[in-house]
Amino acid sequence: MAGLIPQAFIDDLLERSDIVEVIQRRVSLKKAGREFAACCPFHGEKTPSFYVSPQKQFYHCFGCGAHGTAVSFLMEYENLSFPEAVEQLAEQAGLEVPREAGDDDRREAHAPLYDALDAAAEWYVQQLRQTPKAVEYLKNRGIDGATARNYQIGWAPPSGLIEALKPRFTPQQMVDAGLAARRDDGGIRERFRSRIMFPIRDRRGRITGFGGRLIEDGEPKYLNSPESEVFHKGQVIYGLFEARKAGTRLDDIVVVEGYMDVVGLARAGFHRAVACMGTALTRAHLDSLFRQVSRITLCFDGDAAGRRAAWRSLGEALPAIQGLREVRVLFLPEGDDPDSLVLRDGLAGWEERLAGALPLSETLMRLQREEHPTDTAEGRTRFAHAAMKLVATARDPLFRDQLVERIGQETGLSPERLEQVLSEQPPQPVRSPEPGPGHELPATPASGESAPTLWGALLARVLQHPELDWSQPEFRQVVELPGAAAETLRNVLAALDESPGRHTAGLLERFRDQRHFQRLMALAHQELNDGEPAVTHQTALDCARQLLRQHYRSRIRELTRPGSELGTEQRAELARLTQQVQRFDVPK
Ligand code: UTP
Ligand code: MN
Repeated sequence: MAGLIPQAFIDDLLERSDIVEVIQRRVSLKKAGREFAACCPFHGEKTPSFYVSPQKQFYHCFGCGAHGTAVSFLMEYENLSFPEAVEQLAEQAGLEVPREAGDDDRREAHAPLYDALDAAAEWYVQQLRQTPKAVEYLKNRGIDGATARNYQIGWAPPSGLIEALKPRFTPQQMVDAGLAARRDDGGIRERFRSRIMFPIRDRRGRITGFGGRLIEDGEPKYLNSPESEVFHKGQVIYGLFEARKAGTRLDDIVVVEGYMDVVGLARAGFHRAVACMGTALTRAHLDSLFRQVSRITLCFDGDAAGRRAAWRSLGEALPAIQGLREVRVLFLPEGDDPDSLVLRDGLAGWEERLAGALPLSETLMRLQREEHPTDTAEGRTRFAHAAMKLVATARDPLFRDQLVERIGQETGLSPERLEQVLSEQPPQPVRSPEPGPGHELPATPASGESAPTLWGALLARVLQHPELDWSQPEFRQVVELPGAAAETLRNVLAALDESPGRHTAGLLERFRDQRHFQRLMALAHQELNDGEPAVTHQTALDCARQLLRQHYRSRIRELTRPGSELGTEQRAELARLTQQVQRFDVPK
């Protein structure tokens, strides 16, 4: 079973692979100076703005902003997960991917839970066969035997599961798997009773939880497994495994609301529907779906609750749009859901309706118009402000431009004027990916206003020019300052100490799991305009000195605050600081 991939292996793999070769196999590259250029594979264009740098082992598109390492390229281009991309790169390099034991151990610990869930699903299926009223219910809802088998639909009788699992699993394991709950007296009771059972599988087909539906009126209509070691509601997607298994190449996926919608559509011959089980669509859902397909259609009820859900999804989807990724939205007639529609209109009727889904941009316009009718100046003003606020969360610069253009058409305001409003708004947490004052790599509060830019400028130079000499004392000192940026630089320099030949991509891949990864990627392809290496190095040195000076100054201010008593130690520190500040106070 797969474990964690050791960092040293990824380092080695990136050293041995050539990004130019990896991309060249998929996109035709032309030499352009020291780099290679092509029409960007991630967005439609006629003139090349996609560049690959052999020095940095990094690609960057000036059109849509796509950028990254060889691993990122494979993830985006081939829709692979990180381990899958590493596997593929390793295969090309003729290397075997080693796995660390740690993760295997952790998985080992979960093995009984998966086994218990699996055994429960089998038992529920058996029970369904022996329960005519449950079979009858499914038949009445149009579900045939083949579909029920494919989705492993079962029946949880009022009791019996605990008895059935007892020989193989402990009560605690049944509780941990979410199949049973503790009673007050310390015993356990079954969680699912008198319900049609829908097993929920993860990407690899393992059952991680269940949804159970009452067949008579009652509350709650659906009961879901609780969060557990293996079941994470915000991540799991019902029907994705089955959709992948259905065979035909998955080009697009439709996200519906319920279990019965997924199953009902499959019964009618539509195998591309998935559901995120009563929870709102999250970025994690979207990212995992976009790893499979580049087009996603979201279905919402036509009622107020559906519109609220659509609003929420809009906020999640706008930042997820990049390059070829597309999100469309389908509002269903009030009182209907995909299951009832496909039963009534058949497969062709459903597909026709689906074809009428609105692009995300038009959905945004429609929802805004409903909220802020544009027949008055006041309405248009509110429309512009509210819509531009959402636009600020979009990451793809081309998509942003298009959105602004559309808002202009709706409100009669020029795109330039609208952009101005945007720049006056306080920065959003998920702003554009381009470098600039950073949000993800915060400066220490004491370091002053300009600190994020200084850190950014410094990090960008080290990341882009690992071949320069970064051993000067200023760099060694600046990494000792508090804050995330200093820590990142410390790790980068440590990686360079370890193996000096490392290139930009090799450095970046060490940080993929970290919160700052996107920011670092942005810094790695930021245009520096230094001209020559000596200027790059000097600029970085200046940044480091400035940061040190700022830090020492603020510490001195703290120590010499009126009324503060200094001990011997602090007086020594003050003397040291004053000296250091003088050292770095180079006259301008
Ligand atoms: P709906 O109430 O729309 O049910 O809930 P449905 O999917 O149309 O199911 P049928 O057709 O009545 O059988 C949509 C989804 O919301 C979650 C479930 O995932 C359900 O499929 N839900 C709903 C719950 O988790 N608990 C509930 O009590 C109700
Ligand atoms: Mn329904």
